[in-house]
Amino acid sequence: MLNIIPKPFKAEEYAGKADAGCGFEMTFPQEWLPDVQRFYSYFPAKYGKKLPVLSQLSAQLREEEYVLDINQDGVNIRAGGAAGHAYALESLRQLHCAGGGLLPCAHIEDKPRFAHRGFMLDVGRYFIPLEEVKKFVDFMLMHKLNVFHLHLTEDQGWRMEIKKYPLLTQEGSRRSHTNFGLRPHGGFYTQRQLRELVEYCHARHIKVIPEIDMPGHMQAAIHCYPQLSCFDRKLPVATHWGVKHDILCAGKDFTLRFVCDVLDEVTEIFTDGAVHLGGDEAPKTRWKLCPHCQKKLRELGLENENQLQAYFIAQVKEHLKAKGVKVLTWNEDEISGKAPADVTWTVWNVLEKDLHKMYAEMERGRELINCSSVPNYLDLTYNKCPLKAVYTQPVDICKPHPLMLGAQASLWTEQVPNVRRAHFKTFPRLGAFAEAVWTPDDARNYDEFLARMPAYVRLLKANGVKKIASVKRANPGKLFGFFEQLWFNKVQLCWHGLHNLIDNAKVARMAKKRFPME
Ligand code: ACM
Ligand code: ZN
Repeated sequence: MLNIIPKPFKAEEYAGKADAGCGFEMTFPQEWLPDVQRFYSYFPAKYGKKLPVLSQLSAQLREEEYVLDINQDGVNIRAGGAAGHAYALESLRQLHCAGGGLLPCAHIEDKPRFAHRGFMLDVGRYFIPLEEVKKFVDFMLMHKLNVFHLHLTEDQGWRMEIKKYPLLTQEGSRRSHTNFGLRPHGGFYTQRQLRELVEYCHARHIKVIPEIDMPGHMQAAIHCYPQLSCFDRKLPVATHWGVKHDILCAGKDFTLRFVCDVLDEVTEIFTDGAVHLGGDEAPKTRWKLCPHCQKKLRELGLENENQLQAYFIAQVKEHLKAKGVKVLTWNEDEISGKAPADVTWTVWNVLEKDLHKMYAEMERGRELINCSSVPNYLDLTYNKCPLKAVYTQPVDICKPHPLMLGAQASLWTEQVPNVRRAHFKTFPRLGAFAEAVWTPDDARNYDEFLARMPAYVRLLKANGVKKIASVKRANPGKLFGFFEQLWFNKVQLCWHGLHNLIDNAKVARMAKKRFPME
């Protein structure tokens, strides 16, 4: 058994060990220098004989593929590109950590199962400092994940500096208090910092997809620019989580101009040619009462407000498409029945019985990414998403399809106020997720994965993970799971459900007074 997570495509282990106790001496093509420098930085400088490593480019392999041969005289790496080489080095470092410097002699042929192996971080609910975000990026590389989805805007905070609309971060990045700790909270990234982050990701062979969630989850922006909402309401940056009813007004020209201006700055910084537009959890309560939205709906001859959302997203998509930028949304797009097929869906909430509809979407040309909340929302309880369920998930929706690009693990942060909690939620589930998207189905074995767990935990601890759930904790028994879920649900009672009901009645009364003819 080789202590590598995710488990390689194919591996054979031989008798004997190679001694890398004093580190490695690498020979490599010059363009791979940044990966080699990073690799050296993992090991403390030591005097003594270093194990030679010869890295070469192979035209027979694809960009992310590598072949790794370890014997007592040294290590040979063949890789299809810089990413494959970086992955070979990550495997080597895991073996080094597991064996305390002694590497098992082995022949490894490795390549990913899916092209899209994503991780999402919600920095909107709770701001995560740049240095901690970078550590998540390091963990992504360690797990051979290659797409970082950065959820940058929320009702509870706007996190990206936008030069044309400075209030977004001057005021929209701070909430007066948090749900539970009742403390003021805030923070944002400057454009310079985000550029630095994108570079950091690229150096680790990771693409970045920024998300500006619209038309819902926009209360922080509406706080700064009330004219973005249907009734120009002056609202605070949201303090509590839950689905908010004041969303962007789809009937005003200013809204589209604002969104396009923001995205112009976003795409200057995030250069990977893809932007996520959210589209989730956008109740149409205000749109139904709003004279601007209703006028637009009539002008366009639309049947309902869901179609208005599809129209709104399609317009933004056209703006991005003209710049060569691809658009992703959450799969709520489906409710409009008018979602263009060239928008990729991150699928999060489809019931088992409706999965065939998603398959039909792929048949009509839509790309999908499996982000199913169970088991891939890492903020959910271990009771709801136990380690075993993350590991054993099929990943494919219904059956394999070329437009099923892969999957994404997501860490929302409503209940994740600090990095320690974030790590506890993420590990060891991220290891199980990585194996589900990297390793072929027939090579995956949960018991064998558990046997690699002690070495995995040592690796994580050696790399600064602050808290890891034990295997027992990550697969809670019925009784513990019940209480864990109860606690989670109790906390959910702090949602704005009741507040929304009262507020909706207030807005309805006001709308009736102000727009009696509508
Ligand atoms: C989501 O969980 N609202 C995408
Ligand atoms: Zn409106």
